[in-house]
Order: sequence, then structure tokens, then C-alpha cells
Amino acid sequence: MVSEKIRNMMDSSSFIRKMFETGAKLKQEFGSENVYDFSLGNPAMDPPEIFTKILLEKAADHHMHRYMPNAGYLDVREKVAEYISSEQETAVTANNIVMTSGAGGALNTILKTIINPGDKIIASIPCFMEYKFYCDNHGGELNLVNGKDDFNLDIEAIETAITEKTAAVIINSPNNPSGRIYPKETLDSLAAMLNKKSKETGRTIYLISDEPYRKIVYNNITVPSVMDTYKNSVVCTSYSKDLSVPGERIGWLAVNPVAEDYENLINGIILCNRILGYVNAPALMQRTIAELQGVSVDINLYKNKRDILAKKLAEFGFKFKIPDGTFYFFVEAPGGFDMKLVDLLKEERILVVPGRGFSLPGYFRIAYCVDDSVIEGSMAGFKRTAEKLGLKQE
Ligand SMILES: Cc1ncc(COP(=O)(O)O)c(C=O)c1O
Repeated sequence: MVSEKIRNMMDSSSFIRKMFETGAKLKQEFGSENVYDFSLGNPAMDPPEIFTKILLEKAADHHMHRYMPNAGYLDVREKVAEYISSEQETAVTANNIVMTSGAGGALNTILKTIINPGDKIIASIPCFMEYKFYCDNHGGELNLVNGKDDFNLDIEAIETAITEKTAAVIINSPNNPSGRIYPKETLDSLAAMLNKKSKETGRTIYLISDEPYRKIVYNNITVPSVMDTYKNSVVCTSYSKDLSVPGERIGWLAVNPVAEDYENLINGIILCNRILGYVNAPALMQRTIAELQGVSVDINLYKNKRDILAKKLAEFGFKFKIPDGTFYFFVEAPGGFDMKLVDLLKEERILVVPGRGFSLPGYFRIAYCVDDSVIEGSMAGFKRTAEKLGLKQE
């Protein structure tokens, strides 16, 4: 029998299941080309051609299917380290890197390494709600705090939430679902506050930076580095979004080389990567991404989709902040009724995620990692919905 805890979790995330079911039903009834599915952060875009070329070359190498060090191949980690030393503006070596099964694998690995039973992990609303399950997996509890109205971090709110039970703060920039990139000044204030609170509580508070959207940014904005800012930081990321390969489960985790208790921390992480059952990140994918450092899908294609949607949604009277990064719009649900909006859009065969899926009802998320035809096809439905709601058209 399914445990009570898992049954409760299934209930609490049941709207996601319902959304899948509704989507599948609508697609069966009307044909998938007549359903405009913006619900998943699952990129429709193919990976860059070079990805497939290198994958095929590596697959032809027959001597690479065995177990390996749990942290991943040394030469792969060397290549990753070289690349991220410039990206994170910190001298990182292969020893600071553990290859993981996507960002989800990286997050679970670090959380398992640092959580004592009953510990709290702080995250800012709105956020990717799988964090709640990831914390629970390891006996911890996610402690959500409100962000600012512009979706920036509220450092005071985080400070107020910290107790001696706080093991870490997770941040995600560029943010799913808001598209917000936290500025350098915000990270500096966060770091100063975490240093102060670590002293006060007598325990190291880690900063876990979840960065799978780092390369999906617009107008040449750079995402400031946490490693450069806070010594007890760990970066978790993947190639899922920027190379369009989420099914391949490949990412990495990097520990700041100047973190306290560094040797124990990295060895604990390597052990946890193993005993969580990941054992090591997929071999063929490690070999492939090693040759693709700095490569990503064409971000301009996402920018075009963003700009078309922004123009049209604004014209129809929807209110939102233009995302600086990611492929999500987080749009105000008129009157604050996210479920009502989701239902109205469903009548138009448009699927989006209610804000409550990110702990912020009052909004809905549009994932625009879809074909242009989905965006074009959905426009009439968005317009009719705006009209039904009496939004003021531009
Ligand atoms: C903010 C955030 N973190 C982590 C993940 C998990 O990524 P991965 O597929 O690499 O495990 C996602 C996936 O949507 C995400 O949006």
C-alpha cells in the first residue's frame, strides 16, 4: 500500500496530474495541433546539431560503459571546471565538481549531504516546488518566505526566517517561474546576512544556487556569480534547458573551493551521489557534454518567442514583467484568481500552470519553450479570454 506520506504528497500536487490528464484528453479529442500546451518547461527545440554529432562519435567508442569514480570522469570534470572558472569568476578545479543526474540529482545530493533530521531549507516565493519534495526526501523541510513585488529576494524576510535549524538557503536565478535574475547587490546583501547569521546561530548556512537557466538570458545580461560572493556556496545545474536535453539527465554540482569543512563536504557529496542510487552521472552524456562547454541552443529563438508573446499579451491587457531570462512568463491572473484563469484558458484549449504551483496564487505561468505554431495558434484564445475578463485592450 502506498504510504500515507506519499498519498498526501500525491494529493497536494494533484492539480499537476489533473493538468496532464486534461491536456491528454484535449489532445485526443481535438488533435494535438489544436491544443496549445504551455504547461511544461520541456523544450520543444532540438539540441544543437553539434550535440548529436559528438554524441554519435562518443557512442562509437566501445570502451566507456563501465562504472567510474562516483564524482564522474576526471577529464570531463577538468573541462567543466575550466569553463565554469570563467563563468563563476572563481578558480574551480576538477576536484570541486561532481557530475550529476541533472540539476534535480545535484540538488538531492547536496541536500542529503547537509540536512540533519528536522532541518529547514529556506527558499523565496515564487519557486520551483519540487524543492519541497527534495528537502523532505532527506528529512528536511522547505521553509518558504515571500519575495519582493518585483520578484527579487527579500533579504530581511529570509533573515527573519533563519534559526539554528536552518541548513541552507536555495536560490534560483534566472528564476522559474518569474524569469527574474537577482542582481549582484542582492547577492552581496544575502551573503553579508548569511555570514552574520551563520555566526549568530553557530552553524554554517549554505547557499545553494540552482542555475539551470543561466545561459537562457536576454539582452546580454550576465547572471552574477554566487561563488564569487559567498564562500559557503554550492552551484547546482544541468544541460537540460540550455542544450534541450532534459531526458538525458546530465548536470553537475560545484562546491566553492573555499567553503568551510571543504574536504568533508565534497567527500560527503560524492558518497551521497552514489548512495542515492545515481552511482554516477550517465557516462555517454558526460563524454558528450565535455566537448560542449559554453554551447547552447540559439537563445535568439527564445527571445523572438518572448517578444511576440509580450507584445500580444500586453495588447490584450494582461499584466506581467518581461522576463530577463528563462523561457517563462509569470502573468498576473486578473482579480488574483489563478484557477479561474487556468479554467478559462482551458476552454480555449490553452494549458498553463496556476501560480499556486509555485506557491504564489494570483499569477499563472506560460512556458514558451514551444513551437512558434503553438504561440500563433493560441493568440485568438488569449484574446477571447482577456475579453471575457473585461481586460483593457491596448
Ligand atoms: C528551477 C529548476 N531547478 C531544477 C530543475 C530540474 O532540472 P533537471 O531536469 O536538470 O533535473 C528544473 C526543471 O524544470 C527547474 O526549473
